[in-house]
Amino acid sequence: MPDEKPIAVHVRNMSKSFKQRSNVVHALIDVNFDARKGELLMIVGPSGCGKTTLLSVIAGTLRFDKGEVDVFGHSLHDMKDEDITEFRKKNIGFIFQQYHLIKSLNILENISIPLILNGLTRKLALEKAEYMLEKVGLKGRGKDRPLNLSGGQQQRVAIARALSHEPRLLICDEPTAALDAASGAKILELLTDIAATPDRCVIVVTHDSRIFKYADRVVKMDDRKVMSVESNQNPQRNV
Ligand SMILES: Nc1ncnc2c1ncn2[C@@H]1O[C@H](COP(=O)(O)OP(=O)(O)O)[C@@H](O)[C@H]1O
Ligand SMILES: [Mg+2]
Repeated sequence: MPDEKPIAVHVRNMSKSFKQRSNVVHALIDVNFDARKGELLMIVGPSGCGKTTLLSVIAGTLRFDKGEVDVFGHSLHDMKDEDITEFRKKNIGFIFQQYHLIKSLNILENISIPLILNGLTRKLALEKAEYMLEKVGLKGRGKDRPLNLSGGQQQRVAIARALSHEPRLLICDEPTAALDAASGAKILELLTDIAATPDRCVIVVTHDSRIFKYADRVVKMDDRKVMSVESNQNPQRNV
């Protein structure tokens, strides 16, 4: 294709196994795919096929056995652990099915965590957190605790937290699985907006067929491999 978007994540012949005493579990075998800047890529496949393992490898939280993984031109296989940690802190945001908010901290404190990890003062971090909270439509809820919010609201806080340090790559593991259809649609509207930024990329692992229509491309996994990649000619976008 003449005007394909530039590559954000490049995975070639990558395999990952887990060793447990005498047992070896092959979680990923010779996986190949690319994610592009400015796109929302979905990864779908049955439970246990290796989706979370793949996300963890791309995020640099899990070392792989063989092959190549490049994220924004950085080869993870050539990087030292501490360099990967630093790279992740600056460039990658995470959203999980179960939000993972810290219950004892208020909403603004939760959102400011990645900023403080990146060296911002607490005052500046909280100011930025306020701004992010407004962006996800929850202005005025900053002093609440996570459990005072609905599931959909908590997931929006998790998105604000994942985006607070403006990561170029946003990685989401089943972000709508615990949400009703309306809350899930709101989350996808936020994610598609982020993915539309030219140098950003959003990767969403999902089982949720209600949200497939938002993807620019869908990667189908099965049995520890990528089986196919399909483009969606007309992905749903906000009006
Ligand atoms: N830390 C681990 N130790 C051992 N086996 C694991 C570990 N994490 C995942 N696995 C195994 O790897 C395979 C893929 O798991 P996972 O990536 O979590 O699948 P999915 O997210 O698609 O449900 C499964 O067989 C799972 O049991
Ligand atoms: Mg999983």
